[in-house]
Amino acid sequence: MKKNIKNICCIGAGYVGGPTMAVIAKKCPHLQINVVDVNKKRIDDWNSEDLSALPIFEPGLESIIKDCRNQNLHFSTDIKEQIAKADMIFISVNTPTKTKGIGAGKASDLKWVESSAREISKYAMGSTIIVEKSTLPVKTALTIKRILESQSDNSTNDSIPKRFSVLSNPEFMSEGSAINDLENPDRVLIGGEDQEAIQELINIYLNWVNFDKILTTDLWSSELSKLIANAFLAQRISSINSMAALCEKTGADIKNVSLAIGSDKRIGQYFLDSGPGFGGSCFKKDILNLVYICNHYGLTEVSNYWQKVVDINIWQQKRISHIVVDKLFRTVSGKKIAIFGFAFKSNTNDTRESPAISICNDLIEEGSNIYIYDPKVRELQIEKELGIDKNRINIKKDKDGYWHYSNDIEETIKDADAIIILTGWSEFKKLDYKNIFHLMRSPSWIFDTRGILDSNYIKSIGFEFWRIGLGNQNEDNQYFVM
Ligand code: NAD
Ligand code: UGA
Repeated sequence: MKKNIKNICCIGAGYVGGPTMAVIAKKCPHLQINVVDVNKKRIDDWNSEDLSALPIFEPGLESIIKDCRNQNLHFSTDIKEQIAKADMIFISVNTPTKTKGIGAGKASDLKWVESSAREISKYAMGSTIIVEKSTLPVKTALTIKRILESQSDNSTNDSIPKRFSVLSNPEFMSEGSAINDLENPDRVLIGGEDQEAIQELINIYLNWVNFDKILTTDLWSSELSKLIANAFLAQRISSINSMAALCEKTGADIKNVSLAIGSDKRIGQYFLDSGPGFGGSCFKKDILNLVYICNHYGLTEVSNYWQKVVDINIWQQKRISHIVVDKLFRTVSGKKIAIFGFAFKSNTNDTRESPAISICNDLIEEGSNIYIYDPKVRELQIEKELGIDKNRINIKKDKDGYWHYSNDIEETIKDADAIIILTGWSEFKKLDYKNIFHLMRSPSWIFDTRGILDSNYIKSIGFEFWRIGLGNQNEDNQYFVM
């Protein structure tokens, strides 16, 4: 499908649609980009005069929005109009795990993808290239094509018959570094059958990406590569987290182990930081989807193997809650605990699947009073994730503990028994821990689940200190008994 691409529409103004289109707009001033969403509040936030009120926090995003918005980048709820105008449409809608029905808890819920395809089939005019940006189960392009074809060639209203070409172009950016990842991708992957449509998409990326970084392949390999890439990344985290537990038992230090194994080029240095378990909207859902697909094809052993990556992740979060309770004399009831960080990683305001959710809920369940501080996450978001209402009235009746939102470090730690660092925000490294020590109740604990503090320094202040993957090197009772 040869086209002269002028107008791009992106359905879905979320963590992927917003930043991805912002970068295309910045790099391609000759294109008009329209990002549409059904969520009016989200669109209003994207159009907010106050750039700190954008719905997504990403370093570098504000300045692109400032330069491109209302120039060649537009956010609206005019779905019908923008689909009709578009030469190329990106589908960047959510694909969460199904919560009910067949495949509940594992399969991806494709209702938003299907509704996007139906809207496209209804409103698109002439020839349109459809690009799958969302992460999708392998073979979804077939579903999209079938829906689109149900309208192609038999349109009655348009003088030009509708024609569609479907491409897969998965997104590999990470939150917190999205703009840098989008501007300097390791690779751009394009899957499809229609060579002319593939070339049109390549032409867009060539505005800022070297040709040798653009990989083209068939549709199914492209769709599947995205799921597999996320599964491999998550597997590394579960692997290092499982070994962190062994380090704690044996007196080794996971940081030293990561350095030692990561120096081997075949293993590589990245993604070897042990922590409270992976969070984020995608790793868990994408692996569960892979597990579901493998089961569907009768590959039970393969499916069981990948399920373990998720199991270890859940275990890691529980393990941390248990350690905290154990160290605080096996009870946290009535104790104040300061939570440093609620986002699933630093440099984002995203809390989806954050390990903080399960760990905070466990501690509330145990009766503790937790004070949560995060530089970018808002109170309402925390309330939604914890499922306990904002006025601290406990809607889950079996819990005694409560949570409190705090936007001040001093209030967060005053008279607290413990600090738990759950997100590796750089500001937590720079705090005045000597002063903090004097404001807390003794014995004062720091649990560093991100490994960002210097254990010797923190202990020298007088803190009791636990760090992920750090065994007690001086304990002599740890000989391995055959
Ligand atoms: P998101 O929930 O932040 O955004 C999706 C948006 O789509 C929502 O605002 C929703 O209102 C909108 N939407 C849904 N159906 C619609 C419709 N029919 N018409 C118009 N708007 C509609 O999700 P996200 O984090 O941006 O993820 C989107 C997809 O990208 C997912 O498949 C995800 O797996 C994938 N992905 C996400 C990331 C990431 O870092 N978040 C990275 C790579 C890939
Ligand atoms: C991840 C992938 O890295 C992206 O390539 C992919 O596009 C994206 O998922 C997606 O499909 O949504 P993201 O979830 O944004 O990106 O962030 P990551 O940096 O991968 O971190 C995921 C989780 O793993 C975080 O909770 C993070 O703290 C944790 N993590 C990461 C570790 O515990 N240790 C590490 O060494 C790295």
